[in-house]
Parts: sequence; C-alpha cells; structure tokens
Amino acid sequence: MDQNREKWGSKIGFVLAAAGSAIGLGNIWKFPYIAGENGGASFVLVYLICIAIIGLPVLIAEILIGRTTQRNPVGAFYKLSNSKIWAGVGGLGVVAGFMILSFYAIIAGWSLGYIIEAIVGNFYIWPEPAAAADHFQQLVSNPTWIIGYFLLFMILTVAIVFAGVQKGIERASKIMMPILVILLIVLMIRGLTLPGAEKGLNFLWNPEWDKISTGTILLALGHAFFTLSLGMGAMLTYGSYMSEDDNVPRSALQIVTLDTVIALVAGMAIFTAVFAVGLDPAAGPGLIFHTLPGVFAKMPGGYIFSIIFFILLSIAALTSSISLLEVVVSYFVDEKKWKRHNAAIVLGIVTAIIGLPSVLAFNILSDFKIFGLNFFDLVDFIASNILLPLGGLMISIFVAWIWGFDRVLPKLKLGAEKLFNDYPWVISVWKIFLKYLAPVLIFLVFLQSIGVLEKIVSIFLD
Ligand code: PHE
Repeated sequence: MDQNREKWGSKIGFVLAAAGSAIGLGNIWKFPYIAGENGGASFVLVYLICIAIIGLPVLIAEILIGRTTQRNPVGAFYKLSNSKIWAGVGGLGVVAGFMILSFYAIIAGWSLGYIIEAIVGNFYIWPEPAAAADHFQQLVSNPTWIIGYFLLFMILTVAIVFAGVQKGIERASKIMMPILVILLIVLMIRGLTLPGAEKGLNFLWNPEWDKISTGTILLALGHAFFTLSLGMGAMLTYGSYMSEDDNVPRSALQIVTLDTVIALVAGMAIFTAVFAVGLDPAAGPGLIFHTLPGVFAKMPGGYIFSIIFFILLSIAALTSSISLLEVVVSYFVDEKKWKRHNAAIVLGIVTAIIGLPSVLAFNILSDFKIFGLNFFDLVDFIASNILLPLGGLMISIFVAWIWGFDRVLPKLKLGAEKLFNDYPWVISVWKIFLKYLAPVLIFLVFLQSIGVLEKIVSIFLD
C-alpha cells in the first residue's frame, strides 16, 4: 500500500465527505424540479426504488474498487484488470468530471449570486413569479454577472481541493455538512408551518399511478446516478482514501440514507412553500430561482430564510464540486505525477475555460445550437445522460463479471466481517443485484438516452 498517499483522518470523515459529494444541486435544485415536472409522488416512489435496488449496490461496488486499489479511476481499473480498455472506462470518468464541473459551477454560481440578491432585498422588488423570472433572465443574460459568479465558485472549489484531502475536503465537509442539515430542517419546519402546506405534502407523498410511464422510470434511474455522484469515479476516488478496516457496505448505506433524506427534506421545504403561495410545481429548471424568491418575499421571516437558503445551496454545491475536481486532480497526481497544488490550479483553470461556452449559452451564444441543444444543455446531456449511466453499467459489469466475486468478496469483507457472519443473505442479494439487475436496468436507461438522442437528431434533420 502506498504510504505517502493521502487518507481520511477518520471514518466519519469519509462518510461526511462522500455524503457531501452526493448531496448537492442534484438534491436541492434538480430533484424538486424533475419531481415537480413528473407528477410528484409517483416520481418520488420510483426514484426511491431505483436508489435502493441500483444506487446502493453500485455505490458499494464503486467505493470498493477505490478502496482496494488506492488509485484514481484510471489507475484503479488498470490495476485490477491490466487492460487499457478498462482503464479507458476510468478515463471516461475523468472526462465526465471535467464536463459536469464545467456546468455545475454555473448553477452553483447563480446560487452564490442569489445570496447577494437576497441580502440586498431584491426579492421584495420582484415578488411575483413572472417578475422574478424576468429578473433571473436579466441576471443570467449579463455575461459579467454570470461569468463573475461562475469564476468565484471555481476559485472556492480550487481552494479546497488545493488544501488536500484531510485539511481541505474532510475539514470542509465536517464543518459544512452539519450546518447544511440543520438549515434544511429549519427550512422544512418553516414550510410545514405555512398555511396550505398540506397541499405540498400531498403532492410529494400521494402517488398518482397513472402518471408513471417508462419515461418516468428511466428519468428517475438516471437521477439516482447523478444524485449519488455515481458512475464517474467520484465515489471511487473518495473510497481510495479509505483504510481497509472501514466498513464499505455500512458507509454506502449511510451515504445513500443521508442523500435521500436530504432530497426529501428539500422537497418538503420547497413544495410546501410553492403550494402555500399557489405556484406551479412544474416550473422546470428555473423552479427554485424563478419561484422561491417570490415565496420568500411573501412569507414571514422570508428575508432571513432566503439568505439562509442560498448560502445552504452554495455550500451543498461546493461539497459536490470539490469531489468532481478531485477526480480529475487525483488522476493527474497519481498517473502524471503532478503536484496536488499545481494540479488543482491548472485543472481548475482548464475547467473554467471548458465552462465558458456553457456560460455564454445563457447570453451571447444563446442562439448557437448543436442538435437543437445549446452548449450548456449539450454538455449536461452528454455527461449526465450518457457518461454516468455508461459508467455505472461498466462498474457493475466489471465488478461482477471481470474482477469476479471470488476476488471481490474477500475485499468487501474487510471491515464488514460482522455483516458477512450475521447477515450473509445481504451479500447474496448484493451479488444478484450487481450481476443481473443493475446492468439490465442501467442498460435500459442508456437506451433511453440514445432514444432521446435519436429524437434530437431527427429534429436536427427536419
Ligand atoms: N451528486 C451531486 C449532486 O447531487 C452531483 C455530482 C454528480 C457530484 C457526479 C459528483 C459526481 O448535486
């Protein structure tokens, strides 16, 4: 084992950092809006099933690859398979890391910008959703505003990764994650005490079965990957800083539970508020930026809650973005022997440059479309809908069929002896899910992505 490689300072350090990676814009920005667009409770139910039967098994597999090899995604696959093709799967993860970070930091930048909007009291000037949406549109059409906050967010991300695994990522997560959980619970209680909150709860918890379509199922499965930071090596990389006496299945269960609880708490905080003032839950990606300012402006204590909310959103985004940059940094540190400090800065700059066309898609380049998508949507589409499902598919195939359970199980057992002895059936279920269920279901998601791709191509050809 490499003695010089960095490590988490404690077991809880890993869980908090990994939960920090999982919990992010995916939970607070994306989950509510896609749940809102897809019938609420029925989507939530399918998403919960996907998390349990695919997310958790693949998460265990991904963390285990990292812990066993103590490598970045490329080195890890190579070490276990001796094959350049499998190393290429890790390489796809590094590419996905660049891509996701390049658009993730844009939305995170809006969140930073909205802290200032909240502080200066702008939400009280435009309390109606339509006016708030106009104001939002004005902000993102201003290249200086959007680039400025995008770069500010990238600088924060680089600074934490620069400081390293223990001093940067672990310490940041240990401080920020508990604050985040407390703030979200405060916001949820605020939402639950608003008049009309039951309508929001009803929307989130009472499934309308006729709203479940194959589209919903596949969308929920795709989101399960995004929200758990699965399929591109982020969890693998964090797992690589773990020690062998850590319990992988238990840590994975804790991460999944925290991530899911936070998504549901965020959902309750947002939908109770949205319904209390009679807004449309299906407002789309702009849901929180278009509608929440007005929601805050109209509720008692809204000024302070609006500031808290956008600080919280920025924190959540930051503990995720550092895991995206860390994948890329760990690759260059392990394989190319770069110094961490240089890697963090150089790769941060590269990501910012890759992100520029996406930033400009909201203003100067808004008419520039490839396959009918602007640059931002295109990068999101390729990374989230193609690279993540592909990565998840490959991870489950790799662990179950290539690495093989004969070699995998002794590794998984390290730190989890009690689970193996007391609940051997859990391990058997994991094997079946990873070997058959996960690959087949993920393959379906992937096909759906291709289907969407075909539609886009046909629009393009028309
Ligand atoms: N899981 C993060 C979120 O929900 C996003 C993310 C995806 C982070 C992939 C790392 C890797 O916001």
